[in-house]
Amino acid sequence: GWTMEEFIDKEIERIRKLVGPTGQVIGAVSGGVDSSVAAKLMHEAIGDRFHAIMVDNGVLRLNEAEQVHKMLCEDLGVNLTVVDASELFLGKLKGVEDPETKRKIIGNTFIEVFEEKAAELERDIEKTGAKGGKIEWLLQGTLYPDVIESISFKGPSATIKTHHNVGGLLDNMKLKLIEPLRELFKDEVRALGRLLKIPTHLVMRHPFPGPGLAIRILGEITPEQVRIAQHADAIFIEEIRKAGIYDQMSQAFCALLPVKAVGVQGDRRTYEQVICVRAVKTEDFMTAEWFDFPPAVLRKLSNRITNEVNGINRVVMDITSKPPGTIEWL
Ligand code: XMP
Repeated sequence: GWTMEEFIDKEIERIRKLVGPTGQVIGAVSGGVDSSVAAKLMHEAIGDRFHAIMVDNGVLRLNEAEQVHKMLCEDLGVNLTVVDASELFLGKLKGVEDPETKRKIIGNTFIEVFEEKAAELERDIEKTGAKGGKIEWLLQGTLYPDVIESISFKGPSATIKTHHNVGGLLDNMKLKLIEPLRELFKDEVRALGRLLKIPTHLVMRHPFPGPGLAIRILGEITPEQVRIAQHADAIFIEEIRKAGIYDQMSQAFCALLPVKAVGVQGDRRTYEQVICVRAVKTEDFMTAEWFDFPPAVLRKLSNRITNEVNGINRVVMDITSKPPGTIEWL
């Protein structure tokens, strides 16, 4: 048995020994709980010799890159570089409708952008002439359930880990893996995050898939569709938070459907797209139940989305459990 305080001390000690006095570590952060906690722990252990990289793939939540930069870099002091690669990603996603193709494009492009940025960081470090200052380590926020799953599980959620597939990075860049959270469960990571002074709203965040809004926009991804999906999602989450029910559900999101419906606004007939809202409760994401929304919250968010999001004239709700549905639509 150990306390979380002891875990922090022990882990910081282990990281320092492993990396040595001049070693450098890189790692991707997503704005999610695991990568943020791992990054903060790393920063506590080796300061600016840990280099966090966040890739803006153009299908993140509204203002996500700015917010993560503010939180991790400005507030928590983590040495973070945000790479805006949205045009590259959106260019490659143009015309693509198939969900698995979307996932592959995003996964491969992520590795490409990350490697390029890492090489650039390495050149900068060399220029400063720090003795032995090579990037030799890659940080990963792998949790205990991920370890177990990757050993034993080949079920329908095998695709969950597509964007976490760092095999390419490890081989191509000859990096060694460092996984400080690999013995912890999610609730322990949250406790660790709180002890590391990470704000509660970050520590309690719902998971967000690596391919982001690309698997929540059905059909082709265009900048216009991204705008609609981001705006609707921001209103949905804002209303959930305002109602004080965010922590009661495991995940909540909007799917932008590839259909148009007739509506009426003022004295005008409209013919616009449909947003589907979905919120679920689950222990392990293998099965899930749809969340019972208070009707007043539904009424409010439906009004706001139809009034405020240009291009949407209808809001529907997904009341499908998993199984038979998956949590995401794609
Ligand atoms: P499904 O839709 O399979 O989702 O019921 C289960 C959980 O996995 C997330 N998910 C993904 N996460 N890359 C990710 O990082 C993916 O490609 C991916 N697909 C689904 C989903 O958001 C839910 O939490």
